[in-house]
Amino acid sequence: MNGDDLPLVTRRERVEARKFMVGIFMPTMNGGWTVSRATNLNTNKFSYLKTIALQAEQYELDYLFLAGGYTPKLTAEFRFRDKISDAIGLASALGALTTQPMVIATWHILYRHAPLFVAKLAAGIDEITDGGFGINVVCGLTPNAPAMFDFEDSGDHDERYLAAAEFIRMLKLIWGSNDPVDFSGKYYQTRGAFLDTKPVQQPSPLLVNAGFSDAGQTFAAELCDWSFIVSDSPTDYESVTRRSNQIRARYAANGRKAKICMHPYIICRETEAEVQEVRDHIWQHADMKAVAQQFRAFKGADSMMQSHSQTRRELEDYLFIGTFQVFGTPEQVLEKLVRLHQAGVDGIHMVFLDWHKDLAFFCERVLPQLRAEVGDVSY
Ligand SMILES: Cc1cc2nc3c(=O)[nH]c(=O)nc-3n(C[C@H](O)[C@H](O)[C@H](O)COP(=O)(O)O)c2cc1C
Repeated sequence: MNGDDLPLVTRRERVEARKFMVGIFMPTMNGGWTVSRATNLNTNKFSYLKTIALQAEQYELDYLFLAGGYTPKLTAEFRFRDKISDAIGLASALGALTTQPMVIATWHILYRHAPLFVAKLAAGIDEITDGGFGINVVCGLTPNAPAMFDFEDSGDHDERYLAAAEFIRMLKLIWGSNDPVDFSGKYYQTRGAFLDTKPVQQPSPLLVNAGFSDAGQTFAAELCDWSFIVSDSPTDYESVTRRSNQIRARYAANGRKAKICMHPYIICRETEAEVQEVRDHIWQHADMKAVAQQFRAFKGADSMMQSHSQTRRELEDYLFIGTFQVFGTPEQVLEKLVRLHQAGVDGIHMVFLDWHKDLAFFCERVLPQLRAEVGDVSY
């Protein structure tokens, strides 16, 4: 029940009632976020993701975030992140297996999708998930995408956000209208688009964006609901406050409220010595060739590199691929997450070395205290 004693019906309403949402960054990219042979290279398999989703359900976690994209063919001997499972199909399947967490799928909407097609598919998954579907709208491109998908790209980063804004405006019209929609934009047009099956979430399924640039933040502030941010360095709380304030102000200028989320990498063990052991293990098995290949793979994705070069991450930090590092005993992890919350973060999608074991440990040893500390209760 919410503050007005109304029943909280959709997943979205339940989840957004949280003061601090606790979710999972699902390892749809094989190997996850640890560029080391210490990682599991089968994390993107459905059987693994299903186990994690069911754990999330058991512990009443708030969202499952699924990254997505098309990897370039990688040649390194260590096959880190050479596969990305399809986020949209997974969201539908994992949403059907659960009742608690939102399922948020990454969608590269500029890869020649018709808005009506996206509107229908999203409305369908929203029904399957009882109003629990979200789209992470990605406007960036990998360099080979225009050729693979047979479209022209002007090469203008900011223009992609303008095109994406038109796309999302059209989606919202189609989702919200009981009559056929005509739309005549610079990038997208339709005549008489009609959707017989509306999304459960009205006026729109959850829309998320992780844009870092000015154009990205302008886009999110007008059209999205949650913004995903990164910090300047892996333990820099001050930059979290600065960025979240900046994005909140942009949303507020449009009369809207933002939810700001981040992805911390959690290493939690009973003692500091055990935490150090895990870190040493990852470091000793680090694969610097794969680190370099990760860099090269994203080199053409100007936006991704822009974020990382602007934040001046050191090579060692790149082992954890730009995540915010929350390492320590249960008490220390609790203190750091509360600090992130106080710094302006409304939700986290957590990253682990071993999702299955580490998530269970976190949920047993930290989650109840975290919920209590921030003032959240069980449903
Ligand atoms: C938490 C998070 C998740 C992201 N997930 C994806 C993803 O799954 N696929 C992708 O191509 N880009 C992803 N990105 C990249 C962003 O969509 C965006 O391109 C990047 O942050 C640069 O922003 P900009 O285009 O405003 O410069 C992600 C970024 C963050 C911070």
